[in-house]
Amino acid sequence: MATVKFDNATRLYPGNDVPSVDKLNIDIADGEFLVLVGPSGCGKSTSLRMLAGLEEVNGGKIWIGDRDVTNLSPKDRDVAMVFQNYALYPHMSVADNMGFALKIAGTDKAEIRKRVEEAAKILDLSQYLERKPKALSGGQRQRVAMGRAIVRSPQVFLMDEPLSNLDAKLRVQTRTQIASLQRRLGVTTVYVTHDQVEAMTMGDRVALLKDGLLQQCDTPRNMYDRPNNVFVAGFIGSPAMNLLDVETIDGGVKVGDSTVPVERDLLGSASGKQVTLGVRPEDLDVVSAGQGIAVEIDVVEELGADAYIYGSTRAKTHTEADEDTADKPFIARVDGRRPPEKGETIYFAPKPGHIHVFDASSGVRLGS
Ligand SMILES: Nc1ncnc2c1ncn2[C@@H]1O[C@H](COP(=O)(O)OP(=O)(O)O)[C@@H](O)[C@H]1O
Ligand SMILES: [Mg+2]
Repeated sequence: MATVKFDNATRLYPGNDVPSVDKLNIDIADGEFLVLVGPSGCGKSTSLRMLAGLEEVNGGKIWIGDRDVTNLSPKDRDVAMVFQNYALYPHMSVADNMGFALKIAGTDKAEIRKRVEEAAKILDLSQYLERKPKALSGGQRQRVAMGRAIVRSPQVFLMDEPLSNLDAKLRVQTRTQIASLQRRLGVTTVYVTHDQVEAMTMGDRVALLKDGLLQQCDTPRNMYDRPNNVFVAGFIGSPAMNLLDVETIDGGVKVGDSTVPVERDLLGSASGKQVTLGVRPEDLDVVSAGQGIAVEIDVVEELGADAYIYGSTRAKTHTEADEDTADKPFIARVDGRRPPEKGETIYFAPKPGHIHVFDASSGVRLGS
């Protein structure tokens, strides 16, 4: 077991103008499950591959425990990686696939057998040890790939979208299994996914990247309740947070024709300033007509206990000088037993204490 540290780690691929991972700083605790998440191309795999030693580090350092591994070869780092496509050897049995790395390392046969059997037991693969990969289901192959990492008892597990080849239902089951297995084994793990739900449900902490830059690294709870900026606010949570560009006035913000009260410490100084107001769909109360945010309903999605309404709102009042008065999409969660109807206009007020305010130009969170 070990800590992991990305210390200003930077990767600039030859021929590219900007780094794919730019001065990444993350301190990962011993035994922690850290998830790297973000949209396609944001630098997740590159970060993981730098840690694995599969990608050159052009700036900064990478530490495993108290070892600077920046320039060590992959085999000297004591990490084990699980890839998206599993990369199993088709001609080898499950047992041989799982023990292969140990065999290459010269471990004696009895020891390999012992470790493979232990891992197979943990992963519920004991009865498949003599089969070839092609005779296994997708979920079983995924577990063999996990087993191959486990038998090596590495200091760190690295997983790059290991569930993306499974169907939706199996993916949900397997993510729970991996998370509980990791907790049982207590091995520091860095896990890559583009799926924010996977990230939020599996990680002790979640690190969100965009364009090679770390946006926030925090517990799932803090990522959700206190996003650092507009990008984090919009990426984490489904359906997404409503984000409206509005103007501050004394005691609140102006949304369309009405005023939404906002605590002073969120807005800081001077009224008249442009901000981005953020409210999650579940943090809205229905209020009487004429108050709060007017939303014209386009679609009602009934889910039983709850219903989501998808509509649009006019965040800004029309002025001659202001072109940007188009209706903005707006999502709210309402009581599923008395949902409003398509075409209606409903008025919503954000629940006190559940309002997010971001600087309109930088996107940075304002206030506490
Ligand atoms: N071998 C490479 N050469 C040049 N650019 C690359 C290479 N691999 C990845 N990139 C670029 O680096 C960025 C990050 O890629 P990657 O780490 O694979 O993203 P992710 O895993 O988050 O989808 C992308 O813009 C990608 O095009
Ligand atoms: Mg990737």
